[in-house]
Amino acid sequence: MKGANTSIVIFSLLALASTFASASDPSSLQDFCVALNSTKNAVFVNGKFCKDPKLVTANDFFFSGLDKAGNTSNAVGSRVTPVNVDQISGLNTLGISLVRIDYAPYGGLNPPHTHPRATEVLVVTKGKLYVGFVTSNPDNRLFTKVLKTGDVFVFPVGLIHFQFNIGKTNAVAFASLSSQNPGVITIANAVFGSNSPINPDVLAKAFKLDKKLVEYLQTQF
Ligand SMILES: *[C@@H]1O[C@H](CO)[C@@H](O)[C@H](O)[C@H]1NC(C)=O
Ligand SMILES: *[C@@H]1O[C@H](CO)[C@@H](O)[C@H](O)[C@H]1NC(C)=O
Repeated sequence: MKGANTSIVIFSLLALASTFASASDPSSLQDFCVALNSTKNAVFVNGKFCKDPKLVTANDFFFSGLDKAGNTSNAVGSRVTPVNVDQISGLNTLGISLVRIDYAPYGGLNPPHTHPRATEVLVVTKGKLYVGFVTSNPDNRLFTKVLKTGDVFVFPVGLIHFQFNIGKTNAVAFASLSSQNPGVITIANAVFGSNSPINPDVLAKAFKLDKKLVEYLQTQF
């Protein structure tokens, strides 16, 4: 009887654990649902308009051009080229997407940001990157690594992360994200460059900065 009770408890705990587990995007109930902006030639599937499967072609699952380097002539010295559902309509409902990231030599930075809807797995194909992520409150632990060509690193969903080119050459990485539309919040831009601006008193207090410095930072984004 005691053994049976223990089994019931363990089973209940497992059932509870599986209740808490959840994927970023809902799983689809059909092979695909190629996104369509207009209702012309569309069918209604799981509450969404999808392209009529009879009209779907290989091109709905195709993108070309990730061999091309992104332009890194900008303030941070990096460029993300996304390949998500906006570039490949066939990614709709599939819970996955891709980016290419280019970094300028000596300090090209993909600045601290988060993807609210996706875990990211990144592979370096050229150069040397210092990468990291920070865990949520209250620990705010920093996990970092220096990556070279062929190295892979994971950024768990929602956590603030960055990549910094510490090499003498340009660097290139590709990353897959567990959402068709991962979203991105670049911390500095969101905080200091919000539209309209956050009251500087709020930011001065939050960041323990002089209000003048906050106002300066707000002009930079
Ligand atoms: C890269 O971007 C810079 C700044 O916007 C621009 O001046 C330059 O022409 C661009 N280079 C290429 C190759 O597009
Ligand atoms: C649908 O609209 C979005 C947003 O305007 C656009 O980025 C995308 O390319 C469009 N997709 C198609 C298949 O027309």
